[in-house]
Amino acid sequence: AKNVGILAMDIYFPPTCVQQEALEAHDGASKGKYTIGLGQDCMAFCSEVEDVVSMSLTVVTSLLEKYKIDPKQIGRLEVGSETVIDKSKSIKTFLMQIFEKCGNTDIEGVDSSNACYGGTAALFNCVNWVESSSWDGRYGLVVCTDSAVYAEGPARPTGGAAAIAILIGPDAPICFESKFRGSHMSHVYDFYKPNLASEYPVVDGKLSQTCYLMALDSCYKHLCRKYEKLEGKQFSLLDADYFVFHSPYNKLVQKSFARLLFNDFVRNASSVDETAKEKFKPFSTLSGDESYQNRDLEKVSQQLAKPLYNAKVQPTTLLPKQVGNMYTASLYAAFVSLIHNKHSELAGKRVVLFSYGSGSTATMFSLKLSEGQHPFSLSDIVSVMNVAEKLNSRHEFPPEKFVEVMKLMEHRYGAKDFVTSKDSSLLPPGTYYLTEVDSMYRRFYAKR
Ligand code: ACO
Repeated sequence: AKNVGILAMDIYFPPTCVQQEALEAHDGASKGKYTIGLGQDCMAFCSEVEDVVSMSLTVVTSLLEKYKIDPKQIGRLEVGSETVIDKSKSIKTFLMQIFEKCGNTDIEGVDSSNACYGGTAALFNCVNWVESSSWDGRYGLVVCTDSAVYAEGPARPTGGAAAIAILIGPDAPICFESKFRGSHMSHVYDFYKPNLASEYPVVDGKLSQTCYLMALDSCYKHLCRKYEKLEGKQFSLLDADYFVFHSPYNKLVQKSFARLLFNDFVRNASSVDETAKEKFKPFSTLSGDESYQNRDLEKVSQQLAKPLYNAKVQPTTLLPKQVGNMYTASLYAAFVSLIHNKHSELAGKRVVLFSYGSGSTATMFSLKLSEGQHPFSLSDIVSVMNVAEKLNSRHEFPPEKFVEVMKLMEHRYGAKDFVTSKDSSLLPPGTYYLTEVDSMYRRFYAKR
């Protein structure tokens, strides 16, 4: 198969959300800490009737219906998630309910998990399958689904929730430039979930930021090296039209892009002009480790990168700022934001994406876009996703109510033998929701 890539996408995020400004005040944080300090506007969360299974049932059903895909046409289904509902049974098997009733049980693939990287692993698996000799001519389907929740404290405002479905096949409007790729994988304890009785991670926030930036540097170096070998010329920030980042919170995305500009300075690349070179110069002797801790370098880089950030990154930040960290779905929600904001200008453009999962695993990879043809075109994707309408029809909860939901969910995590309120009144039609977990821990869902 040729020009393998993304044919279609859809996104779902819970309509229940809390404003960061209200949360800031409620938590007794200084004004601007979450909105300016972290760069976040709003945070979506699952109410007691939603979870990663219901969100993925909703988004897969919606994608199949809206693009008129016969469920029999799916030959591989891969799920990326780090939200553990069962230590053995995959989320993929829950999704088989959609396909079984249409007579399709011939679908490869299971779940991939490593923090926020599982979605990227699932995506690569599907693309590789379509490009391989075992491909049977049908579509691959990738699902990223997560509910990001944190214990009370400074990490709590960096939660979020969403599910994304991505259809993979040949002759795609969003193609993989598979040769331009760099990975960085290492053993670190920056963010992990060792306590199986709790949904909350153990997180060393400061360490996780440094690990993220170190992985970013390393991936960028590998990608540049491969590009230079194949193209015979140096790669710089000017060689991609947009940069999309895994977005735990927007401030880290601002710092990350600035860090890439500093990388270009160190590599003496063409994106850094003479004035910028002068300003970077005092930092050229810093060791790698020192450079991650240097606040002046961080400030200078962010200032110098600002115009390029506005052009190449800002259009990708809408959903991550409005919905929060969606873990595996975060990077793809940022990419969805770009398509939503710029779809008519994207033909012929190169987009570089950076996927990071704590622990840690990371890959930077490149996509090439074209308009495509109905029903698999960029404008079809925009109208199906209907991002503006989804954002506008949300229900804001006061922080006290959000905290109440978090407490109830702590109680329910890993529990059996309960029924939910079955209140689906806040959910849009077509949304799946949890009704019951029986005495054998079996989960039951209904559709609004
Ligand atoms: N107005 C404006 N800015 C403010 C204000 C204010 N009133 N108060 C604080 N700030 C700024 C700080 O200066 C800082 O910005 P800077 O880094 O540019 O200097 C920022 O707000 C954050 O404040 P800190 O005190 O540095 O950090 P905090 O204790 O709030 O923790 C953290 C932030 C570490 C990100 C925390 O939310 C966390 O642990 N999150 C989860 C981990 C995470 O997301 N890691 C990212 C990669 S791994 C992953 O994806 C899960």
